[in-house]
Amino acid sequence: MPKKLAAGNWKMNGSSASAPEVAALLPRIADVSCQVLLCPPATLVTSMKNWAGSSDLLIGGQDCHANESGAHTGDISAAMLADAGATHVILGHSERRADHGETDAMVKAKTRAAHAAGLVAIVCVGETEAERDDSRALDVVGAQIAGSLPDGVTGDSTVIAYEPVWAIGTGRTPTLEQIGEVHDFLRDTLTRQLGTEGANLRLLYGGSVKPGNAAEIFAVSNVDGALVGGASLNSSDFSGIIEAL
Ligand code: G3H
Repeated sequence: MPKKLAAGNWKMNGSSASAPEVAALLPRIADVSCQVLLCPPATLVTSMKNWAGSSDLLIGGQDCHANESGAHTGDISAAMLADAGATHVILGHSERRADHGETDAMVKAKTRAAHAAGLVAIVCVGETEAERDDSRALDVVGAQIAGSLPDGVTGDSTVIAYEPVWAIGTGRTPTLEQIGEVHDFLRDTLTRQLGTEGANLRLLYGGSVKPGNAAEIFAVSNVDGALVGGASLNSSDFSGIIEAL
């Protein structure tokens, strides 16, 4: 099993004025045993790489195009992210699926592109509130996994983030039993599909993770880290989460 992972998704936040926030995080992560990753907007990948200096802070992107280059105005490729210093890329986040109509097939193509560029793909899955109320959470994440992962996925190349859409940025979280049920289901599904690699693949939980709830979430079986939105913007909150991992 690769190291546990605390990943921060800055979404459409941050600017050159964010350097002190990152500088404040670095001493807090100097001795942790997990990997720590920040995914800023693409405009800040190179700057953040420089702010990280010789620390162990990893930098990632929030999306990439499925093609390596070409006439795709406004898009960036996985190879460009890697060239800018990224080691990871978040793919299929529910905000991309909702705002940009991303389908499982598109996420699969992007994941393939990320792997080809040597990036670790963090593939996001998760049900809406209506789907959970309809007792379809496992069906939905199962279908997203089946449709979004290309051949050749390994525990080193890919991470899965379970993010219930209704828990993102709302302050609401599933019960620990609900998180455990989905993560156990994902582990079983991936192990059946991929054998040892599925057993090694890290499963992150995301959705309103805060310093105050991180420890109990990390104690749930098959939770190997977190994908953190809002709380990753604040070095004190994010390090509180990291220290709980
Ligand atoms: O990518 C991160 C997730 O969307 C979680 O966001 O921690 O603000 O709820 P949040």
